[in-house]
Amino acid sequence: MKLNRSLLTAAGLVSAQLAAALPHAPSSTASPSATSSATPGAFASTSGLQFTIDGETGYFAGSNSYWIGFQTNNDDVDLVFSHMKESGLKILRVWGFNDVNEKPAEGTVYYQLLADGKATINTGEDGLQRLDYVVSSAEKHGIKLIINFVNFWDDYGGMSAYATAFGGEKTDFYTNDKKQEAYRAYIKEVVSRYSDSSAVFAWELANEPRCQGCNTTVLYDWIESTSKYIKSLDSQHMVAIGDEGFGLDTGSDGSYPYQFSEGSDFAKNLAIPSIDFGTFHLYPSSWGTSNSWGNGWVSSHGAACKAAGKPCLFEEYGVTSDHCNIEKPWQQTALNTTGLAADLYWQYGDQLSGGQSPDDGNTIYYGTDQFKCLVTDHVAQIGSR
Ligand SMILES: *[C@@H]1O[C@H](CO)[C@@H](O)[C@H](O)[C@H]1NC(C)=O
Ligand SMILES: *[C@@H]1O[C@H](CO)[C@@H](O)[C@H](O)[C@H]1NC(C)=O
Repeated sequence: MKLNRSLLTAAGLVSAQLAAALPHAPSSTASPSATSSATPGAFASTSGLQFTIDGETGYFAGSNSYWIGFQTNNDDVDLVFSHMKESGLKILRVWGFNDVNEKPAEGTVYYQLLADGKATINTGEDGLQRLDYVVSSAEKHGIKLIINFVNFWDDYGGMSAYATAFGGEKTDFYTNDKKQEAYRAYIKEVVSRYSDSSAVFAWELANEPRCQGCNTTVLYDWIESTSKYIKSLDSQHMVAIGDEGFGLDTGSDGSYPYQFSEGSDFAKNLAIPSIDFGTFHLYPSSWGTSNSWGNGWVSSHGAACKAAGKPCLFEEYGVTSDHCNIEKPWQQTALNTTGLAADLYWQYGDQLSGGQSPDDGNTIYYGTDQFKCLVTDHVAQIGSR
């Protein structure tokens, strides 16, 4: 998701943090089935075309929260995970990055300062210690995390923040030695903090990496070498790309998302041995397609994942209004499609100590009618299969 800032609203502490951060940037829900040999408590894994979490193999529901690691009140973090647990949401995808080019005001969380050709990781109380708390609370509540290392978009720094510090263009990120050196040092710091944690579902290379007009070999080579690097640091946790699923011949109707113009080849990238499962997103309103077009997008990726012998994670989907009517059919299609193993709506919302969590327009708040439709009922349907 690229955050639409005009839609961002928040209250209290969250609002202050967000306002401070933006200028620097641009269950069990599983249906038990027989195939798992994993032991409870072991790391999350794939099992054929499904996922295994804490010994249960099946289909899982989850969500996204870009903001949870930027909260300064531990109670807010605990509240989110306790509500997720109670609701049967099993996976939460979070931003494991928060890059700035200038040190923000006291009390504003950031993870890495990129300035003057140098990267300085913030391991302090207003830095990665906030992510530490997210991981420890997730452990306590049995929630699994997807932790992402860099944004393609400018929110919370992203590849533009690397360009500001190291020069060059945003999209030479994938091939620039200095940028890759800093990116890998950051990956190493984060992975080494949580490599023993059962709360990690998967490491993720980037949020929505694109390389417009590039030969697909650019992203492919970067994905292959980076995922191998992560496996060399931590061979036990899964690794995924975090891409939108662009560039696909299977089921293609020739529309923009199926094209290869953003430099991505979904099937080729998924075949990389150090990539454990496929990821794809769905935002018809941003892509010039219709909402009902989304059903074909979901089933096409399921078919490609089935062909690759790896599960697909339907990782982000959202609209800004009429959530239930528009997103429910996508969930139904996902449940009906072989090769799909989990879906994570964008994004989770809740009432925090400082007020409502950030709303980028797509947020579904805990306890609302939309939440009942897209979470409570969805989780019940998964459990009854
Ligand atoms: C992409 O790069 C590869 C390897 O260098 C080359 O073989 C291929 O022809 C290129 N594709 C296009 C469309 O330029
Ligand atoms: C499959 O999709 C149909 C609607 O297309 C829906 O009624 C049904 O509940 C779905 N089945 C499952 C198992 O989700």
